[in-house]
Amino acid sequence: LENGLARTPPMGWMPFERFRCLTDCVKFPRDCISERLFMRTADLLVSEGYAAAGYKYLIIDDCWMEKERNAITAELMADRERFPSGINHLSAYIHNKSLKFGLYHDIGRRTCMHLGPGAHGHYSIDAKTFASWSVDYVKLDGCYVDGIDLNTAYPAFGQALNRTGRPMVYSCSWPYYQNNPNFELIRKHCNLWRFADDIRDSTASIINTIFNYFKRQDNLTKHAAPGSWNDPDMLVLGNYHLSYDASRLQQAMWAVLAAPLIMSNDLQTVRPEIRALLQNRDIIEVDQDPLGIPGHCVLTSGNIQVWLRPVMPTNNIGAHSFAVAFANIGEHYECPLCPQTFRIILQNLGLSNQMGYVAYDLFDSKRQVGLFKPQDQFTIRINPSGVEFYKFKSEDIY
Ligand code: GLA
Repeated sequence: LENGLARTPPMGWMPFERFRCLTDCVKFPRDCISERLFMRTADLLVSEGYAAAGYKYLIIDDCWMEKERNAITAELMADRERFPSGINHLSAYIHNKSLKFGLYHDIGRRTCMHLGPGAHGHYSIDAKTFASWSVDYVKLDGCYVDGIDLNTAYPAFGQALNRTGRPMVYSCSWPYYQNNPNFELIRKHCNLWRFADDIRDSTASIINTIFNYFKRQDNLTKHAAPGSWNDPDMLVLGNYHLSYDASRLQQAMWAVLAAPLIMSNDLQTVRPEIRALLQNRDIIEVDQDPLGIPGHCVLTSGNIQVWLRPVMPTNNIGAHSFAVAFANIGEHYECPLCPQTFRIILQNLGLSNQMGYVAYDLFDSKRQVGLFKPQDQFTIRINPSGVEFYKFKSEDIY
């Protein structure tokens, strides 16, 4: 969507994978979906360094609403017990921290957790309400849509947002709820779109999402660009189930795919080594690369997938540099869950700049590993359900 927003993939935080739809604030005051959780998270985004690394959007997911609209005005209302100070207050709190404020809604009759009303029949009033709350980002889900044509509903809600005059990033779940999504249409109307199942806090879920992208990569890759991004769902690093290697895998792969980096975790309990991964500046730089060209898988060999993303800088005759992720995620051969050695001649990946490339390890503060010509062999060892991630910087031609 060409609305001037999301020129690079949005970065931020969203509660759903971690905190689900927990509404009992009496028994679980710390973890329930409430203004307390969002204020605490806003504080931590800043104090723990995430905001400075780029994680700016604090997005409220489902389960923030009262069960019904205001009986007189038909406006949406936040749950009065869990958001006693009101959304405007929370929005101001978030903005005062120089963060951006996102809010969830649904194009259908109810939200996905069925707790609150959907936008059906109320696009204009809901868009106005969102604008009056100074919302910067709208996540629009697609549950309870029987009889509703998503191909007209999502554009219509987008137009209602646009008519408010307030710039709001428009995140659509539209293609996820269709069999043959029309990505040409979707990219015209949305800044990002969900295409895969809800992510879970497991290695299998991360790998499934990568394979889902892999199977449809030609179609997905060609529709992403500044302003329009494929969304493989939240980052789940920092929770319960991912090994350190699987955490690296998700962070690197999301960067290669030019995916939004939207964490779902409890920022108070993220371990330091995972926080360092989430804030790895070199990987974030790949994700946020201004060319906005998403990566694609150029080669699979046994358990290894090699993903290549053209990035800045380009050399003096315009040859790109590349971010290259070597992921050990297959189930082939004798040992799917073992470390694997992988050797490749760089030109077989399409790295053909005759002056060569200086290779940097993106997990190791850009540790320089040498100059490689296209005919040279590059050899690495990759942990199971893990990844090695390098930048090959294109050298100038003299
Ligand atoms: C759907 C979405 C999730 C989350 C939930 C909330 O499942 O895909 O990301 O927003 O709804 O109910």
